[in-house]
Order: sequence, then structure tokens, then C-alpha cells
Amino acid sequence: MSEFIEINGGVPLRGTVKIGGAKNAALPMLIASLLTSESVEFENVPNLEDVNLTLNLLEHFGGHVEFFGSHAKVAVPQLIATEASYSLVKALRASFWVLAPVLARGGAARVALPGGDIIGARPVDMHMAGLTSMGADLKLKHGTVYATAPKGLRPAKIQFRFPSVGATHQIMMAASLTPGTTTIHGAAKEPEVVALADLINKMGGDVEGAGTETIAIHGKEQLGGAKVHLIGDRVEAGTYLLAGVATGGEVRAEGINPDFFGEFLSILDQMGVEVERGLDWISARAKQPLKAVNVSTGPFPQFATDLQAPLMAALCIARGTSSIEENVFEGRYGHVSELCRMGAQISVSERTATISGVERLAGAEVEGFDIRAAAALVIGALAAEGVSSIGEPHHLRRGYERLEQKLTGLGARIRSKTSDLEDYLFTGC
Ligand code: UD1
Repeated sequence: MSEFIEINGGVPLRGTVKIGGAKNAALPMLIASLLTSESVEFENVPNLEDVNLTLNLLEHFGGHVEFFGSHAKVAVPQLIATEASYSLVKALRASFWVLAPVLARGGAARVALPGGDIIGARPVDMHMAGLTSMGADLKLKHGTVYATAPKGLRPAKIQFRFPSVGATHQIMMAASLTPGTTTIHGAAKEPEVVALADLINKMGGDVEGAGTETIAIHGKEQLGGAKVHLIGDRVEAGTYLLAGVATGGEVRAEGINPDFFGEFLSILDQMGVEVERGLDWISARAKQPLKAVNVSTGPFPQFATDLQAPLMAALCIARGTSSIEENVFEGRYGHVSELCRMGAQISVSERTATISGVERLAGAEVEGFDIRAAAALVIGALAAEGVSSIGEPHHLRRGYERLEQKLTGLGARIRSKTSDLEDYLFTGC
């Protein structure tokens, strides 16, 4: 039996959609509960595959976990493990971020390297170099990082060559339990980094400058419990806005601070989309035909790489030729061949995709290979004429809570189905 999502496209989406808590804030913040023996409570937690994997990982380290509705409570009174094997880490790359809190609290950690994935190589050299300059002894053996800090970690001045979100999370967590002041220069400025810093401060820590390129962490001997409300998910919100835009409709996303979008808003403006915004909502109304744009992805506040694929789906039917330069993950074009199956005209040369707008897309059988690629195919299918089926929808479950219900609420004709037909692969003779 295989699951797929069927979409009968061509209906302009209209209405309001409630945005959930940010997955990319939830993961590091849940992991930060390893920094204390007291309980940390989280509100507005999305019920997603990646969140459940993170909670399982916390249980592995001794966490007592409760998760009801959108409320999660985690307490790790004692670390009962210091290692995370490849089987635990491979399903979710962010699992690697347990390295810092386990090392800072327990004095040693062994975490398997998550490896590359479909969107690119994804090295962790900056995580390793940062922890090494804080006095950690790191050895890489058989695909696993063995970390010890026999004399404890020490504060350091760390310079990143690229503002890595994950490396910034790791160093903030390690430094928050390392007395003295650690500074990160060239830090990531994403809203999710600010959210993690806010949590650490609520736990009794002292992090200054999150959201700028220099973060100073004044470390403590211990951190305590806290209660936080997660920020809204800017990628989920952006996906629904683009779905509205691509179908010629009007979508209002609630539960999201429009400041979190950075350059995304000016790109919508250049596409001829009318945007209205309030404190915690944003709406986008398409003026057809959409205009072609030139976009480069980059660290916040530049255009988010996570919205690159969803944007491309909308640009497939813009008037004129658009270009997208992907500067964050070199291999993040897995959606291109699938959009082309729907009639899109896209060519890729190195990091740049050129999209020649077509009048309309046509429904097709497609497969998403990662979360955002799958989201792009949903947008393409919603805008297309006819029926599409999107295979491997488990990718969508990693990042989009109640996707079918939310889209149905906006007027989409979408449902998940299962097929018991065998897939035959004809390889020729
Ligand atoms: C996080 C997000 C992901 C988002 C990305 C960029 C989560 C769970 N994931 O991923 O959705 O697309 O930020 O906004 O929050 N790099 C190195 N060496 C390192 C670390 C990173 O070369 O040590 C490179 C990466 O290969 C990539 C770039 O830096 O090319 C950005 O990666 P990074 O910001 O670390 O992304 P993640 O934290 O993995």
C-alpha cells in the first residue's frame, strides 16, 4: 500500500489559515531542554514528524516527555545516555544539535554524523571548530563524533565563515552552560536563532545580540526551567501565501509575525502581489498574471532557501522569465524535474534555475523528495489544470501539520489516498 495526495487543481484559494508553531524553532528549543534538570514547557508546538522524532531523542537521553495538543513538557532530571547512534540521527539532521548540550552538561558526548542529504552535502565543520575552540576534544571515528571536555568547556571568541543556523544553535547552547563570555561573530540572524536565545534567557541564561551578526553568551553554571510560546512558522505561512498567489486567490495567514519574512515580502511585491499585514497576520492577493522576478537565496533577512521551491512553483506561471540562484544548499533543485512533468519550463545551470513562465500547468503524477520540494509540487498541483497525484507525502508530514485540512479550508480539492497497486519499474530489456 502506498499513500499519495490527490489534488484537483485550478481553484483559486481564498480564506484564512492558522499557522502553527515554527518547526525550525521547535527543534533546537526542545533540544535545549537537555541543558537543565528542571522542566521546560512549550506552547504552540506543531504536531509534526520531526517534532516527534526530537521528543523520542530526548527520551533516549533520559527526558520525561508529555505532548498533548500543542503543549509539550520536557524534563531531563538526569542524562542517562551520552551517545546518539546513526539510526537515531539519520532520520533528522537537527538531531546532531544534541552534541553541544550533552557535552556541556555531561562532559562527554558521542553523536553520529548525520551525513549528506538530497539537498546538499551539509557539512558540520563550523559546529566542530566552534566547540574545539571552546576546549572540547573532538575526534571523528567511523562516522561518529566523540566529544569530551575533561576540564570543562571554556569561553571563546568564534568566527563563522558563513552564518550557519545549526552552528549558531550549537554554540549558543554550549556557551550558555560555560561560565564566562563566548562571542559568535558572523552568527545566523534567523528568527529561530532569536527564539532559542529567548528560551535560554528564560531559563536563567544571558544571551545578548541574537538577531544580529554578533552574539555574546554570558554562560552560567546551571540553567533552570522555563515556559515559552513558540513563534509562528514563516515557511509554512509563506507556502500558503504562495499557494494563494499561484492559484490567483487571496490567502490570509494568521499567527505569524510578518517581520520574519525578510526579503520574501519585497519579492511578492515585485511579482505584483498585493500584501497587507498586521502584528500577527499577513495576507497576499494575486494580481494575474504574476510578474517574473530574479531571486537569490541567502541567510536571513535574504530570501529563505526553504521558500525557494514553493516560490519556483508560483513562478512557473508568471509572465516572462524568472531566475533563482540557490546560494545556501547546492543540491536543492529536486523539485525542478517534477514541476517540468507538470509542463513547467525550467532549466538549471550550476546554482541558477531559469524559469520561463507558461500559461498554465497541467496535473501529473509527481513525487517530492524533501519537505519543501513536496510543498512546491502541492502548489504546482493546486495551480494546475486537472488532477495531480503527489507520491511520498511523508515528506510533507515532516513540515506541514494538517496540510489537507488547512488547504480544504481555503477551498482546495485535495485528499490523501492509498493505492494497493504495485509500482512497476520498467527498466528495458
Ligand atoms: C537550518 C534549517 C533549514 C534551513 C537552513 C538555512 C532547521 C532544522 N533547519 O538548517 O530548514 O534551510 O537552516 O536557513 O532549522 N554549513 C557548512 N558547515 C557547517 C554548517 C553549515 O558548510 O558547519 C553550510 C551548509 O552546508 C549550508 C549552509 O552552511 O550550505 C547553511 O547551513 P545551516 O544554516 O547550518 O543550515 P541548517 O542549520 O542545517
